[in-house]
Amino acid sequence: MHPVVSPQTPRRILVTSALPYANGQIHLGHMLEYIQTDIWARFQRLTGNECYFICASDAHGTPIMLKAEQDGIEPIKLIEKIRMEHMRDFGEFLISFDNFHSTHSEENRQYSELIYNRLKDKGHISRRMIRQLYDTEKQMFLPDRFVKGTCPFCGAEDQYGDNCEACGNTYSPIDLINPRSVMSGSTPVERHSEQLFFKLEDFRQFLADWLDSGHTQKEIANKQRELLNEELLEWDISRNAPYWGFEIPDEKDKYFYVWLDAPIGYLASFRNYCDRHKLDFDEFLKPDSKCEVYHFIGKDIARFHTLFWPAELHGADFRTPTAVWAHGFLTVNGQKMSKSRGTFITAETYLEHLNPEYLRYYFAGKLDDSIDDLDLNLDDFKVRVNTDLVGKLINIASRCAGFITRVFDGQLSEQLPDPRMFEEFAKASEAIATAYESRQYSKVTRLIMQLADRTNQYIDNEKPWVLVKEDETRKQVQGICTQGLNQFRQMMVYAKPILPNIAAGTEAFLDIETLVWQDAGTPLLDHRIKPFKPLMTRIEDRQIDRVIEDSRESDIETPAISSEFEPLAEEIGIDDFSRIDLRVARIINAEQVDGSDKLLRLQVDLGDSTRTIFSGIKSAYQPESLVGRLTVIVANLAPRKMRFGLSEGMVLCAGTGDQELYLLEPDSGARPGMRIT
Ligand code: MSP
Ligand code: ZN
Repeated sequence: MHPVVSPQTPRRILVTSALPYANGQIHLGHMLEYIQTDIWARFQRLTGNECYFICASDAHGTPIMLKAEQDGIEPIKLIEKIRMEHMRDFGEFLISFDNFHSTHSEENRQYSELIYNRLKDKGHISRRMIRQLYDTEKQMFLPDRFVKGTCPFCGAEDQYGDNCEACGNTYSPIDLINPRSVMSGSTPVERHSEQLFFKLEDFRQFLADWLDSGHTQKEIANKQRELLNEELLEWDISRNAPYWGFEIPDEKDKYFYVWLDAPIGYLASFRNYCDRHKLDFDEFLKPDSKCEVYHFIGKDIARFHTLFWPAELHGADFRTPTAVWAHGFLTVNGQKMSKSRGTFITAETYLEHLNPEYLRYYFAGKLDDSIDDLDLNLDDFKVRVNTDLVGKLINIASRCAGFITRVFDGQLSEQLPDPRMFEEFAKASEAIATAYESRQYSKVTRLIMQLADRTNQYIDNEKPWVLVKEDETRKQVQGICTQGLNQFRQMMVYAKPILPNIAAGTEAFLDIETLVWQDAGTPLLDHRIKPFKPLMTRIEDRQIDRVIEDSRESDIETPAISSEFEPLAEEIGIDDFSRIDLRVARIINAEQVDGSDKLLRLQVDLGDSTRTIFSGIKSAYQPESLVGRLTVIVANLAPRKMRFGLSEGMVLCAGTGDQELYLLEPDSGARPGMRIT
């Protein structure tokens, strides 16, 4: 049979996606990157290479510190919670990480210190006093993005401390006119403090060579090369306390800047994996390593990955990346994702209504090796998935399997009626493999769709539904459908990195072992298949509508709390009152709601059932203090759909508006589920 691309000695590959910040939810923009990387990693494994796909939470830095403060929890709790949420979202999107660690880990502390110490020993670290803005109320130095003021170049007001959105100039926050702290609103003062710097200029020649030798896309390399025209600025790698991160060895109250330890998190996560799986870490990271290392990133973080990172690694005697591949940004319906338009879609909201493989397929159909932005057009999304994926590709299985099961007792024929066509399909593996390897997934899907078109045409021409009616021709139907199913199997081998679940469903109904790339070269004959179950259904308009609805900023999250001074409501009779079903409930869990500054998510026990209730009592209660308490809820209130989920009832509070709030509590002895009469 036809030889398909099969490596003589398997390549050894370490591949990473950028580490998502542990202070927010994963959205579809992020998913573009994780799906792009995952497809590549799965392709490598499918073709027999040894490939480790590594990621982690980026868990340090000021924004995370402040978010934890805002939520009233320890940073360590926040990052662990978000790490769990991220892992859940990635898992549901079928992202096949081998390890998802955290930059707040022992391994990362060790490697950060090691790399820093080696750079320091070789004289690549300098120190000097700099002027910085200090918030005297918050008692902390302000990061660039936490200062706003008037642009010193064009006079535009309300600009961040690093660059002006009006004229595009970059500057230091010290230069802002009328600066104010975003955190306290106060006017910051200038203070001197000593900081540590990484001397990038020491690596000028190394970087020039590295950028010239195809380790990243041309556009990215050119952009960085512009910087080489002038002296390379030293990179400030330290931050003053209070800061959430790792303390710098032998310094007082100094922490590593988050972007120093973030990429080192790739190494730390891999190290953690190696230790648990008895894999030799150094084999991959030593300077003359024969293994390959690839970083997939968004173009916004290219400088960190194509200047600082290779220089740090080189300076600290580690190998540098084989390549850093950047992608563009995701827009939805042609525009930046927007909360008011309902197009800021979180992974969680998407997954509530839609199949993850729809998006994997759609992104694959649009991705290539460029850094151009990419649009998720929701109408196009529906058409591509329904017409191409379901209508053309998946449909082949149901067209053929039905006959085999009903007429031939599940038995495939002993020979293919058209072995030449099967051979041609096998040959396609080369072009498809090349396209995968070079991240031209849009070409992959185009090639697979061409094969699907040919297969559908073949079935249309042969007309098995006519042949099956006559005794003399019935036998041919078995061959035709065996041909169709074999080509479907080849296409599923090729599509497996994009559609892992559908591939698994295919393996199940064909009753075969896990498909590998080589299987596209040998047909499946004289074999009994299992009854066919639909592998995927079409997208309905209303599913997309729901995603948009749930993503739109809603304002129903503010519960009505009556004021002390409000006049009494209209008189009601006892019948009116008895329509309201009030019950005793026990709060069994209470937690913050991401993105809401009013709500807590409560889990209550009603005796025979539990409910989720969103309650606007965040200002008055720490969630932990509520767990275990008895309270009173309106149990027959129609469920309300909120941006964060469904609220199934209402907790009763006494109060005077947001300022004062008191949860109702029955006298001791009351039990969950009792009705209040
Ligand atoms: N924590 C840093 C990365 C550190 S890597 C050592 C970071 N985190 S992030 O959560 O903001 O972004 C994670 C990845 O998602 C980045 O590569 C970023 O470019 C990508 N994307 C975030 N929003 C995106 C879109 N809207 N579109 C495409 N990719 C996007 O950056
Ligand atoms: Zn300006």
